[in-house]
Amino acid sequence: MFTQSMHTTEQLQQILDTAIQNLKFPDQPKQLYDPITYIINLGGKRVRPLLVLMATELFGKDAHDSIHAAMAIEVFHNFTLVHDDIMDNAPLRRGKATVHEKWSTNTAILSGDVMMVEANKNLAKVNPIFLKDVLDTFNATAQGVCEGQQLDMEFENRDDVSIEEYINMIRLKTAVLLGGALKLGAIIAGASEKDADLIYKFGENIGIAFQLQDDILDVYADPEKFGKQVGGDIIANKKTFLLLKAFELAEGDIKESLDTWTSYKDFDIKEKVETVRSVYDTLDVQNIAKESMNKYLGNALNLFAQINASDEQKNNLLTLTNQLMAREY
Ligand code: IPE
Ligand code: IPE
Ligand code: MG
Ligand code: MG
Ligand code: MG
Repeated sequence: MFTQSMHTTEQLQQILDTAIQNLKFPDQPKQLYDPITYIINLGGKRVRPLLVLMATELFGKDAHDSIHAAMAIEVFHNFTLVHDDIMDNAPLRRGKATVHEKWSTNTAILSGDVMMVEANKNLAKVNPIFLKDVLDTFNATAQGVCEGQQLDMEFENRDDVSIEEYINMIRLKTAVLLGGALKLGAIIAGASEKDADLIYKFGENIGIAFQLQDDILDVYADPEKFGKQVGGDIIANKKTFLLLKAFELAEGDIKESLDTWTSYKDFDIKEKVETVRSVYDTLDVQNIAKESMNKYLGNALNLFAQINASDEQKNNLLTLTNQLMAREY
């Protein structure tokens, strides 16, 4: 089979950088569009658009074929972050003030809305042969993210969330976007339906592991590297894997301390974060979370092995997967 020669990861990142620099938004009203350039130029890891490009090359086509889909995914992702930071009352993103802090909540809502439109405009540039499948996948993904975000908020006020419900919530809010990014890349490469589904499920499992790592980092990251407020999930009583496991394992005084700190309406932020973190340390929930991450990584790798492509074609994605599992921000 003839296959296109593949780009290195560094080359793919270069292609992405150029495409991101070439994204153009209208000038006026400035308050609507400035936040878009602000959040996008803050960078981030740009994992999802890289997944789009890598999936396209894995199935033998050139990354440039899916560059517009990659832009759509990254603009959409940035939109979800702008709205997520409102919902999570987050002060920091990528080491800088969040959009709602720097401008206002109303501006962040509307800039986010128009980013969704901009994402769609990029999607409309995809080769029309694939457009129906691309739109179906993109819409299913975007809808899943909204469903997951709703559950994430509802769980803040519930104390009976199961691990199973939690996994489903993070599958929706985070994992479907990684799966969707890979599937878009596969569709545009003309992959078989079977392979497109396999790479989607691979991405979903990677995405679950990715969010588990995100939950761990929210408690244990080096604030300098993290770029977000460390302890934000603890402050908001987010039902993370760590908190749910801690509730499951805590007994006696530790249980009482956890119950008390998660029920306070007014509290000293630093004290709450330190107390809950020390409960996590005592119960070693970080390691239990890492075991769960490894389980989902294992699932992902099993699915990946079933994809009909050579090891050489799979190499970039495999390396990226391993890097993501060890990320520090
Ligand atoms: C943040 O995603 C949102 C989550 C799903 C945890 P990333 O960690 O990929 O954020 P950036 O784009 O690199 O900043
Ligand atoms: C990420 O959840 C989900 C989305 C942004 C859709 P988080 O709320 O954990 O993401 P961060 O930690 O703020 O990046
Ligand atoms: Mg958040
Ligand atoms: Mg959130
Ligand atoms: Mg988080």
